[in-house]
Amino acid sequence: MEIALRIAGIGAGHEVITTPMSWVATSNVILEVGATPRFVDIDPVTRNIDLNLIEAAITSNTRAIIPVDIAGLPVDRTKLYALARKHQLRVVEDAAQSFGSMWQGERIGAIGDFVSFSFHPNKNITTIEGGCLVMNNEHEAKLAEQYRLQGVVRSGFDDMEVELVGGKFNLTDVAARVGLGQLPHLEEFTVRRRQLAQLYFELFSKAQATSLGLMLPLADFSQCNWHMYQVVLPEQRLNIKRAGIMAELDAAGIGTGVHYPAIHLFKLYRGMGWKESDLPQAEYVCRNILTLPLYPTMANTDVERVVDTLMKIIRNHLN
Ligand SMILES: Cc1ncc(COP(=O)(O)O)c(C=O)c1O
Repeated sequence: MEIALRIAGIGAGHEVITTPMSWVATSNVILEVGATPRFVDIDPVTRNIDLNLIEAAITSNTRAIIPVDIAGLPVDRTKLYALARKHQLRVVEDAAQSFGSMWQGERIGAIGDFVSFSFHPNKNITTIEGGCLVMNNEHEAKLAEQYRLQGVVRSGFDDMEVELVGGKFNLTDVAARVGLGQLPHLEEFTVRRRQLAQLYFELFSKAQATSLGLMLPLADFSQCNWHMYQVVLPEQRLNIKRAGIMAELDAAGIGTGVHYPAIHLFKLYRGMGWKESDLPQAEYVCRNILTLPLYPTMANTDVERVVDTLMKIIRNHLN
């Protein structure tokens, strides 16, 4: 994502619109190139950036949008690119979580401006560490190769030239080989993730979870790769905090996670003027979201145990 911003010529004095509900890398790359992140609130149903709020955040300094497909659920690409075209903005899709997801019959990465994938171990396929940047412009792809490794361009047997300052972003050959081993399994991983997500919905429905205020994810079974299954806890109805629920689940042998705390409330970003109540939807969701276990080798009985245990904890702690 940092390389994409550099290729797009984004730097000091420029603003980049993004979501506060993401891994902090999403906005750190904006700071890394010297630009300013401009957070826009989320849609609590999709948990992705609220595209309807973007126009109000555009200024004469805005150069790009970095949307995130949180949990693999794709941001509406039709609306996104209509906005980008209208305001002549570049798009760097943070598709770290949506490898294998689709938008209207096409794979994420097959369409769009810049698309950035992560192959970190918690992703749907992994290279242990690493990722890739996809683009659709030959000239920009050449620039990406330069930024990737110290700006170096090699030619012939012994010639080397350097015209720009690059970094060291190259994927190792060993990591690439791990990825090539993973890639043929992508479809089967996604199919199994969808089955597990479907089972979560069925069991939460049987347990009447939503009548207790638990918010489930959007049930998208055609496009989402189900990178995560996340619920939003009913804060007002509980006499226990999220960390307490996580501790009780942990004691029952169930690991959970938080993806993510709201970025704009981190010290670094508060120091830039962001504060509580700036982005109320994201703040509520980020304070109460809980990522439940979901991985292809998970058994159906594991999902049953997670739902049973979580619902028992919630029922034991209702106000
Ligand atoms: C939404 C999002 N953006 C960016 C990243 C960063 O990816 P990586 O850890 O491969 O640098 C991640 C994953 O860690 C992520 O989930």
